[in-house]
Amino acid sequence: MKKFLRPFAVPAVLWALGFGLSLLFGACDSSSDTLGDDTPAPTSSLEIPAGTAPSTDIGTNETVSPTDPPTPTATPAPTPTPTPLVVNTDTSTVTFLVNREYPLPDSFVPADLTTPDVLFPFSDTSIDKAKMTPEAGEALARLFDAAYTEAGLTLYGVSAYRSYARQYTIYATNLATRGIAHTNRYSAAPGRSEHQTGLAIDISCASEGYGLEDTFADTPEGIWVSENAHRFGFILRYPKDKEHITGYNYEPWHIRYVGTELAGHLYETGLTLDEYYGAPSTLSAEYLETTPLIDTTAESYLSIYRQYH
Ligand code: DAL
Ligand code: ZN
Repeated sequence: MKKFLRPFAVPAVLWALGFGLSLLFGACDSSSDTLGDDTPAPTSSLEIPAGTAPSTDIGTNETVSPTDPPTPTATPAPTPTPTPLVVNTDTSTVTFLVNREYPLPDSFVPADLTTPDVLFPFSDTSIDKAKMTPEAGEALARLFDAAYTEAGLTLYGVSAYRSYARQYTIYATNLATRGIAHTNRYSAAPGRSEHQTGLAIDISCASEGYGLEDTFADTPEGIWVSENAHRFGFILRYPKDKEHITGYNYEPWHIRYVGTELAGHLYETGLTLDEYYGAPSTLSAEYLETTPLIDTTAESYLSIYRQYH
């Protein structure tokens, strides 16, 4: 051995001995201290692909026995009815959307408007506001019949179909007498009202004096309707806490026929029709509080305004 290598000879032999022993018996690490050599370490939650994580995490102090079955991974629940990619504006269907962004033509009048076989709090049921499309009217009669036979409750139709011209008069009168903010909270501008479709109706009961007030929601009739209307194809179109979506105040009295399939889906999911079509109200609360949605310089408005001022 060369002279200059001699100082390294003994340490080198000791190192080689140590290395050989470590190969024989295995090196220790902190996890095997805790779990034991043959216990697999729990899978780090960071390693579970997004969307497949089990609902309950394995705690860091728990061990997994080698005979345990593999941790099941949750399968994402399928979406029952996918949200359509396009807004339905086909007025030959019962599911089309009408809101401020998706108005009806001035000239739109539903075909075959008829008076449903239900109670109204007025005697002349040949007038427009007692009329609906035949399909919606028959569904309304089934809804009201069920309220009576299943729960002993008597419902009344208060206001159903309104023409574009009638809606103009209502909106303009509200504007002239109640102000912009109140009007836009409760009243649709002409062409923007579901009442023009013949598929919507405001309903009430005797204890409410047949009126349209928030308190209808707390009556047995209002509660029953909110829980059962979907079975007959109706939705509560302007629900509580969805004002920012629909652009209107809560209206527990306004129901809209969309057919049982969509009504059931919207009831189960809690979606409004606007959300279902991905078309929520786009006008800000501030805009709606300050901006009339008709031309208030037009003679048609001014003549209504003059009746009250
Ligand atoms: N009250 C509802 C929004 C309408 O006027 O159609
Ligand atoms: Zn209404």
